[in-house]
Amino acid sequence: MQGPTRRDSLILGAGLMLAGAAPARVPGAQDSLDALARTRGMRFGSAVAWGPPRSDTGSFANPNYAALIARDCGVIVAENEMKWQALRPSPTTFDFARFDAIVAYAAAARLAVRGHNLIWHQPKWMPHWAESHDYGATPKREAARLLGDHIRTVVRRYGTRIADYDVVNEAVNPADGTLYETTLSRALGGAEPTLDLAFRTARAEAPHARLVYNDYMSWEPGNERHRAGVLRLLHGFRARGVPVDALGVQSHLITIGADARASVSRMQGDWRRFLDEVVAMGFGLVVTELDVRDNALPADPVARDRIVADYTRGYLDVTLGYQQVSDILVWGMSDRYSWIEGFEPRADGARRRPTLYDTAFAPKPMRAAVADAIRAAPARTPQRSERREI
Ligand code: XIL
Repeated sequence: MQGPTRRDSLILGAGLMLAGAAPARVPGAQDSLDALARTRGMRFGSAVAWGPPRSDTGSFANPNYAALIARDCGVIVAENEMKWQALRPSPTTFDFARFDAIVAYAAAARLAVRGHNLIWHQPKWMPHWAESHDYGATPKREAARLLGDHIRTVVRRYGTRIADYDVVNEAVNPADGTLYETTLSRALGGAEPTLDLAFRTARAEAPHARLVYNDYMSWEPGNERHRAGVLRLLHGFRARGVPVDALGVQSHLITIGADARASVSRMQGDWRRFLDEVVAMGFGLVVTELDVRDNALPADPVARDRIVADYTRGYLDVTLGYQQVSDILVWGMSDRYSWIEGFEPRADGARRRPTLYDTAFAPKPMRAAVADAIRAAPARTPQRSERREI
């Protein structure tokens, strides 16, 4: 017997959660996706939400959900709790309570934390007050102060506890590849100086951290302008000497038909060309938010799960082929709590099945597909060293 079995550990983990402690990790568990990822020099993780103790939410405080995290994850990311909308009730105040709780849980459970995000560069994702904020007589100075203070305050608070930040989230408009403007960026003199300032401030305050630009340009048809816009932005960062270490590839995948193999062979060429150009600029890669929108698929859950799994496998086989990919994070572990159901329900009313575990926390074929893709991925050395000093 090699210590506790996985089942014992899960039960132990759930019990500890009920007692208010963090769940036990599952050392050496053959079945853990993170353990598997480590054998390839990567990490596996998930988004986690804040929720009241023992609530039916995708939270660490839900023993069922915590058991999934304990089983599979080595790194977590707050689904919403580190965003401006959560941290900044007003221009002069911060509310760290919920994100602090996530970070404390991670420390107790010996999980790494990704920081998501230091600015989500779209008006609709900023707090309402930021869009109507009075930037005063010297708007440039006030905007730079507001953004700089926000980043310094957040990054200082967590110090070396967070070694990975999505500094800027989704700055490129997928419709035409241009950069969004917000009230803040207009005051500051434009989107580029705003994004540059965000990265420079993060680097100065957290020289230890890997700094990521995170976006959802994907491999499906219709994302050509989005991908081109992201490439332009990344070239611009390099040309201006902005300290950006990696591209976060969100990976909110969308199936485009029942023949997963045909979809993969149709899209992989464009996807490889995109990733080739990103890595040629010296950027690392992180799969930051993997899940699957099961569009254009039959409602039958068995058939759907099979196609989703094959599609995910095809995507990861291409993407993890890049040794620059250091981490794979999914955007939630269970269909029970996935954001996709609220964001874009299926037209036929069938419940979405976007994640690795079903609504009763049982593993789905997509979980096996992720495990198989990790097993098939080439081993890599951890990518920390590729961080560029600029
Ligand atoms: C989503 C959350 O999952 C939702 O709960 C919230 O209402 C909106 O944001 N890209 C990102 C994530 O970078 O922060 C988003 O998370 C999903 C898309």
